[in-house]
Amino acid sequence: MIIWKKRGVFLGLVVLLAVGMCLLVGCGGNSSHMAAGTAEDPIIVKFSHVTSPDSPKGAAAQRYADLVAERTEGRVKVEVYPSSQLYGDKEELEALMAGNVHIIAPTAAKMLGLVPAFQIFDLPFLFVNKEVCYQAFDGEVGQKLFKQLEPHGIIGLAFWENGFKHFGNNKRVLKSPEDFKGLKFRIMAGKVLEAQFKAIDAAGAVVPFGETYTALQQGTVDGQENTWNNMETQKFYEVQPYLTQSNHGRLDYVILTNTTFWNGLPDDIRQIMDETMKEVTAWEREQAEALNNKSLEIIKASGKCQVYELTPEETKAFQDKMEPVWEEFEDVIGKDLIDGVKSLY
Ligand code: LMR
Repeated sequence: MIIWKKRGVFLGLVVLLAVGMCLLVGCGGNSSHMAAGTAEDPIIVKFSHVTSPDSPKGAAAQRYADLVAERTEGRVKVEVYPSSQLYGDKEELEALMAGNVHIIAPTAAKMLGLVPAFQIFDLPFLFVNKEVCYQAFDGEVGQKLFKQLEPHGIIGLAFWENGFKHFGNNKRVLKSPEDFKGLKFRIMAGKVLEAQFKAIDAAGAVVPFGETYTALQQGTVDGQENTWNNMETQKFYEVQPYLTQSNHGRLDYVILTNTTFWNGLPDDIRQIMDETMKEVTAWEREQAEALNNKSLEIIKASGKCQVYELTPEETKAFQDKMEPVWEEFEDVIGKDLIDGVKSLY
């Protein structure tokens, strides 16, 4: 009897301790599953991304959080973690698959390790304007890409855009492919972007977004490619005296969620979150170009760098050198996808 009593007390203590720990750490990353989904006990949705709150992605993530809170009357709380605060480039995808974060918005290039076909958005000069991008996002190309996420327990919710990339470096004005010879550029992810720089006798080195300013400042790399908004909000232009407006490639985002988490949401809440995502996607795409134009003005007005705009003839020289990369990656990306984009011109 005494032994049983002692055992009972011991078990009680263990249960108490476990409950206490659970309350303290929120029962791990999937704490949202434990919530009742009421205003008193809201479902917590962690939305992590790497850019500044002033970026198209940052502004849209916050708008999504605000609208979801309003429309669910506080039953869902989307917590936005910008600027790699919670997870950086290297960790966010793994954290999503583990259920430690619920929504992420990586640049398509960063999906390389999981679904290499997303590198289609990195093919230099493939996307001739943003309308072609939107048609690819919202049509068959986008659907085929999202389908490839399914076996990984990930759902693609939307495509957002940032815009066209341009070059910057700390050595010289870049007007022709020859000017790139021997320079090392920070890239977001491997393969296609590496090949793009190799095609003009330069090199690419992968550096996480959150570490790029330091890499540029310390001269670990000579240059980078990015949108005006990222260059401005991350202050890259302060350590890159020569910028070239080249529009040579795209920087677009895939908004991803964990399948188990998403399907586990109450139906009415999932529907609100889905509809709000569609609406915010349209809003995000309206903002992106204006924010990039504003950033270009800030960069120009800073007096810290010169911005050179390629002429159509100069652009053609880059296209001639870089477009063979499309064929090189046909097997990795899928010829059907590449042809699918070309058919949109
Ligand atoms: C980069 O690494 O340069 C971009 O992917 C950052 C971003 O999310 O826009």
